[in-house]
Amino acid sequence: MNSFAIPQRQTPDAEMLFGFWYRALPSERVRHNRLQKALLLEIPLVIGRDAHGRAFALRDACPHRGMPLSCGAFDGQQLECSYHGWKFEPHSGQCQLIPSLTADQKLRVDRIYARALACAEHDDYIWVFVPEPGPAGAGATRAEEPPVPAPRVPSFSPNYKLAYLSAEMPVNVDHGIIGLMDPAHGPFVHQAWWWRSRHSIHEKQKAFEPIPNGFRMSAHTPSSNSAPYKLLRFYGAAEAITTTIDFVLPNLRSETIRAGKFWFSSLTTVTPITRNRCRIDVVAAWNIFRWLPFGPELLKFVFAKFVEQDRRTMELQAEGLKHDPHLMLIDDADRPAKWYFQLKQAYLDARRTGGEMRHPIPGPVTLKWRS
Ligand code: FES
Ligand SMILES: [Fe+2]
Repeated sequence: MNSFAIPQRQTPDAEMLFGFWYRALPSERVRHNRLQKALLLEIPLVIGRDAHGRAFALRDACPHRGMPLSCGAFDGQQLECSYHGWKFEPHSGQCQLIPSLTADQKLRVDRIYARALACAEHDDYIWVFVPEPGPAGAGATRAEEPPVPAPRVPSFSPNYKLAYLSAEMPVNVDHGIIGLMDPAHGPFVHQAWWWRSRHSIHEKQKAFEPIPNGFRMSAHTPSSNSAPYKLLRFYGAAEAITTTIDFVLPNLRSETIRAGKFWFSSLTTVTPITRNRCRIDVVAAWNIFRWLPFGPELLKFVFAKFVEQDRRTMELQAEGLKHDPHLMLIDDADRPAKWYFQLKQAYLDARRTGGEMRHPIPGPVTLKWRS
């Protein structure tokens, strides 16, 4: 088989990457003193916030006999398991009380931990650092300190607005991600009378370059039939508009569009929930439309429409994928998808061998396609 056709079988189990930050839940879904369940990389979590509003995340299983901690009670300080009443400090997971112990029983309660995960909250989301799974059967200790802070939506001025959208899709994370970076589906999936028709398809040429753990579509003037171009041309000369799009492992796509002092950015993630489900979360930030009362609604409407079109497409695609058909990726339109698989493989190889990650993209590349 030549190297230009990468069938889906190359990543048969849609391997999930551990050792990264992932978006767990939108902030507004986690209320004070209430426990919320979440599933990430097939790990059930219980998420909450303490009396000061600080978020925490624990594996949703009591270290005693496995009762989901989300069934327990939380008073803003301690989480009490509903089965035998063990109490835990929610940020560290440290056990603080075992009610069945008698006065003369000397069990070191403080050495027992429920498994806590590092947690961060910004840009309307709670992020969780999902570490490499420990050796089977090992008990929990304190949460691992993440090597880097959680990702942020790019911003370029002190005042701006934020909005988010979230949708679940019945495909594995790889299909979710390559669907996100795929330039060729636009004219067919994202048609709307007020937007574009498939007749606006034309040849495009874009410069890409490698960046750590990913690749960048270098700063360029957006296509005349793209969303940002249409929104921003009301604000400045079209030539002054530049857009940059980055993809970085495990699942981050950030887009930055700048036109003079106006800017628009987004950080989109595709998070594995299980081996065959993923969730797309888009957070957008902007300082345009601040004086237009309908601006944010318009933007949300456009984004919601796009995300829904992608979600619906992947729902249908999942039907086709059920019986494991042979698939292929073509040049140049699917080259970013190939890079994604190569980056992922390089990351896994480096982890396995303990060596440096070998970047699969040697230098700047220009890709051409019609969309
Ligand atoms: S299972 Fe949680 S206290 Fe026993
Ligand atoms: Fe799309």
